[in-house]
Amino acid sequence: MLSEIADEIRACRKCSLWKTRNSAVPGSGNMNAAVMLIGEAPGRNEDMQGKPFVGRAGEILNSLLASAGLSREEIFITNVVKCRPPQNRNPLPGEIKACSPYLDRQIDAIRPKVIGTLGNFATTYVMQKFGLEPRPIGQVHGQAFAVNTLVHHLVVVPLYHPAAAIYDPTKMPILEKDFMLLKPKRL
Ligand code: URA
Ligand code: SF4
Repeated sequence: MLSEIADEIRACRKCSLWKTRNSAVPGSGNMNAAVMLIGEAPGRNEDMQGKPFVGRAGEILNSLLASAGLSREEIFITNVVKCRPPQNRNPLPGEIKACSPYLDRQIDAIRPKVIGTLGNFATTYVMQKFGLEPRPIGQVHGQAFAVNTLVHHLVVVPLYHPAAAIYDPTKMPILEKDFMLLKPKRL
């Protein structure tokens, strides 16, 4: 199921980002994951390797996961947009619209208990999707929003994007504290 979605993503030409990508980045991790992390879009290193969060932001993410007692192998990590926007510009509304059905299908296939959204783009998309009122990440980070619909029973945890700690190291202790909310047994 997940691998079929990944094959579709690698062959996708639904928005113009396919023209400039080296590799699409479908996501990686455990198909039975209780915890799913969603970033914005692949960067340069991710585009080269076809894997999410393998650059500098990925190193910070690894350290945050370790501090929360989570491993990459037990979670699933992906992005709202699966191909790298040129020069790492923000994804355009049309690109998010074209690409997000893949994310929706990944969420339906994995059925996570917790979704951690990394940064404003993922937070806005996921909160809107589940009928929550989207607010800037500075106002909602580190809170747990319960979602109970006919098909989904989960908690959305908005988080600062790990790359924010590259430019502002004071974000690191906040991120470490917020990441503790991802552990399903703590909820
Ligand atoms: N930033 C993201 O949002 N996603 C990645 O995969 C890498 C960096
Ligand atoms: Fe397809 Fe998404 Fe890549 Fe656009 S960003 S080409 S919609 S996989």
